Amino acid sequence: MKSKAIALACALFAGMSGSVAAADYPSHAITWIVPFAAGGPTDAMARNIANRVGQELKQTILIENVAGAGGTIGAAKAAKSTPDGYTFLVGHVGYMAAAPSLYQRLQYDPVKDFEAVFRFPDTPLVLLVGAGSPQKDVKSLVDYARANPGKLNFGNAGVGSTSHLVAAMFAAQAHIQITPIAYKGAGPAMNDLMGGQVDAMFDQTNTALPQTRGGKIRALALTSTAQMPQFPGVPTLAASAVPGFEASTWYGLYAPRGTPRQAIDTLYAAWQQALKDKDFTGKMTDQGIQLLDAGQYAPAAFQAYTADEVKRWTGVIEQAGIPKQ
Ligand code: MLT
Repeated sequence: MKSKAIALACALFAGMSGSVAAADYPSHAITWIVPFAAGGPTDAMARNIANRVGQELKQTILIENVAGAGGTIGAAKAAKSTPDGYTFLVGHVGYMAAAPSLYQRLQYDPVKDFEAVFRFPDTPLVLLVGAGSPQKDVKSLVDYARANPGKLNFGNAGVGSTSHLVAAMFAAQAHIQITPIAYKGAGPAMNDLMGGQVDAMFDQTNTALPQTRGGKIRALALTSTAQMPQFPGVPTLAASAVPGFEASTWYGLYAPRGTPRQAIDTLYAAWQQALKDKDFTGKMTDQGIQLLDAGQYAPAAFQAYTADEVKRWTGVIEQAGIPKQ
């Protein structure tokens, strides 16, 4: 009887203030919007984490892919969604930190329109060419690009995706000219890399690894600070072509501003439980995914990090000479 009274009180209070989720939250399936096409690293990371967090919540977490414009279309949809604790955004350094410096008419504010729920682990990237490419290492790719300005085309997941940004940073620091080819996600770009329609791309390790092991693409260099056992014999870009080069993709879960605090805390608590599952975290590190210090995953830390990153990417984009859209 008592729990029913509490549930009724919460429901009434929620109806009045919208600041408290019902006592039986989540009472039905939750949606996570992923602003890239299915099959890419963000989609893969989101589905893996959603599945494990859903087990903790004993509730289904549905992935809704809303692709286009480097993820800004899906982020805009999430910003306008009902803040009831049943719709969240899988955020990403591109459309949550670089986009304000890249898009002149961005339909959302990454900091004001969202509340951070929890950060995901980071993923370094790999410089990839098709298995039939004449470029056998990063030096031969740079030499070819210097001799043939603009000839090498690089697939990416749209303006502001890390496959776009990292390729632009690499080109600027290696003093080469490349031609970017935008797709709705790294998944479709990877298909065209394997098919020979694009010459090269940067992709996160979690989706690059199975394809390199399958022999359909070749890994030339890593954007991490150290080599990885998952990519035997593959050097870092910093050690092989561009001293000091380092890049990785960060992601995390965000709620539209106004989502009940209790819903945010419930999702974060489920994530903390998932992180105690060493089989779950071990499978991520096996894919080259880099776990963070526990405190970095927390809502407040992630909210502050997002705001800092928006500021930092203004300078990175200016230095790489990436034009506004
Ligand atoms: C990117 O930054 O390139 C994205 O992660 C691509 C994707 O996840 O599809």
